[in-house]
Amino acid sequence: MIIFVYARDKQYGIGKDNDMPWHLPADLKHFKNTTTGQTIVMGRKTFDSMNGPLPNRRNVVLTRNETFSAPNTEVVYAIDEIVKESKEQDIYVIGGTEIFKLFWDECDKQIVTVIDHVFDADTFIPALDKEKWDLVEAIQGTMDEKNRYPHEYRTYVRKK
Ligand SMILES: NC(=O)c1ccc[n+]([C@@H]2O[C@H](COP(=O)([O-])OP(=O)(O)OC[C@H]3O[C@@H](n4cnc5c(N)ncnc54)[C@H](OP(=O)(O)O)[C@@H]3O)[C@@H](O)[C@H]2O)c1
Repeated sequence: MIIFVYARDKQYGIGKDNDMPWHLPADLKHFKNTTTGQTIVMGRKTFDSMNGPLPNRRNVVLTRNETFSAPNTEVVYAIDEIVKESKEQDIYVIGGTEIFKLFWDECDKQIVTVIDHVFDADTFIPALDKEKWDLVEAIQGTMDEKNRYPHEYRTYVRKK
């Protein structure tokens, strides 16, 4: 199955200046717990925004640049192979927007952290159509001095 994992704000913002618009370590922990041991697929820009490949995961980067390479990272130039693989095993697509749009019709589950705040963003994800997606889980995140924004961990599955 293709599974999306991302965090968005109240206005569906996900990024700013090729970085995250917010600091929310609890969500990073949630992301780590969700994706460790799994295959993660990302766009080249999202890969560039990170400090190299994420540990203890199979990192796959989508690019059109045939000279692109990075240590401990697989490179693909189209979604076909990944979609085929997803019939046998779960694949976690982790962004950004260009890559979510490419996989949108193939995705059957979205694990979304909804942050109840508006940030200055320049990259946005489309809203989920309630006619097509069921909310199957919603867990309120805990706020503390390091996690200052109200947030909720939601799981949506595509209706059959
Ligand atoms: N809030 C979250 O959960 C979250 C998650 C992920 C990312 N983000 C944010 O999202 C932003 C980045 O997203 P983005 O949409 O700008 O970029 P992106 O989706 O990460 O990457 C775009 C790149 O993917 C490659 N690509 C796109 N379409 C392709 C295709 N059809 N075939 C092959 N390669 C293709 C191209 O790489 P080349 O240019 O190398 O060809 C393109 O420049 C950043 O701000 C990041 O921090 C947020």
